[in-house]
Amino acid sequence: MRRVCCAARALKTEATDRNSMPDAIPPSEGALAFFADLQPPAGDFCADVLRGLSKPQKTLDAKYFYDQAGSELFDAITRLPEYYLTRTELALLDAIGPRLRQQVGPGAVVLEPGAGSSVKIRKLIDALDEPAAYVGMDISGDHVKSACASIAADYPGLTVGAVCHDFTQAIDLSELPLPEGKRVVFFPGSTIGNFELIDAQALLSVLRGYLRPGDGLLIGVDLRKDGATLEAAYDDAQGVTAQFNFNLIRRLNEELDGDIDPSALVYRAHWNPYRSRVEMYLQALRDVSFTVAGQAFTLREHETIHTENSHKFTIAVFQDLARRAGLAPVDVWTDPAEAFSLHWLEVRREA
Ligand code: AVJ
Repeated sequence: MRRVCCAARALKTEATDRNSMPDAIPPSEGALAFFADLQPPAGDFCADVLRGLSKPQKTLDAKYFYDQAGSELFDAITRLPEYYLTRTELALLDAIGPRLRQQVGPGAVVLEPGAGSSVKIRKLIDALDEPAAYVGMDISGDHVKSACASIAADYPGLTVGAVCHDFTQAIDLSELPLPEGKRVVFFPGSTIGNFELIDAQALLSVLRGYLRPGDGLLIGVDLRKDGATLEAAYDDAQGVTAQFNFNLIRRLNEELDGDIDPSALVYRAHWNPYRSRVEMYLQALRDVSFTVAGQAFTLREHETIHTENSHKFTIAVFQDLARRAGLAPVDVWTDPAEAFSLHWLEVRREA
């Protein structure tokens, strides 16, 4: 069921099928210069969920949080008093704007995998010296199209394109009509923390693949801190993060014909200092049986479905990970409290 070939190949082989090559859209104000649709097949959601629920430790992939309702709940999370990440990163972006402008130089081509918060990308575009182009990439085609169209409308001089794809899969950028210019991949929000270390390294390598010598990656990375602060950030008093998790259960029930009783589950966030990550779970309050897509599952009392990890790094640990992915740490900025970090990593020019 799952596509086994890499997305770069899929782009060629499936161009006439489900996926389509970038449509050339006649340039006009507010319009996208191109839209490349590499949307993963809907069957992936079902197959991934069934595979995850069949493991000894049941899991659900965090990328499936972000349907329309989930994205709105995540937006609400970013405004919670306990969730320091977003506001710290935004303040940091403001503070380093002039440094970034200098570091990157004029005419940059900005690529944003997982294009999420238009607030952050606008701060970056505003900071840069007449960037040439912006390309948003996201698994939700509708979302990325409308987000990029609104950027295009607000920045008439900018060439704006959109790509619908799963950013963990490498795509062949040579297929896209990108202008010349230094490439900047922007990956804010500490999304990298969602991945197991080995997968984080693989994802950094994918992003590294979009860069040529001298190009760079600007990435937001949340820092390791005391467990109480971290557990509060991921289990807020208003219960928004819990709702965010229960939205995934609603998706299983509605989209995969599930019959999970949400009242049998409770949300938990646990700081695991040994693995340096906050682990999020839905835990059964009693034995509970359910079906999803016709397949039967049982949770015993206290058993958990692992829904998400959020890894926390030290600067040294993250820089080490970056180096292993072929990215050289050039600059790193943090807020005064050292809660969050922004890293500028480059592909070394050949000597
Ligand atoms: C979007 C992955 C960065 O880990 O902080 C927030 C997701 N989950 N609260 C994070 C999330 C619950 C968030 N990332």
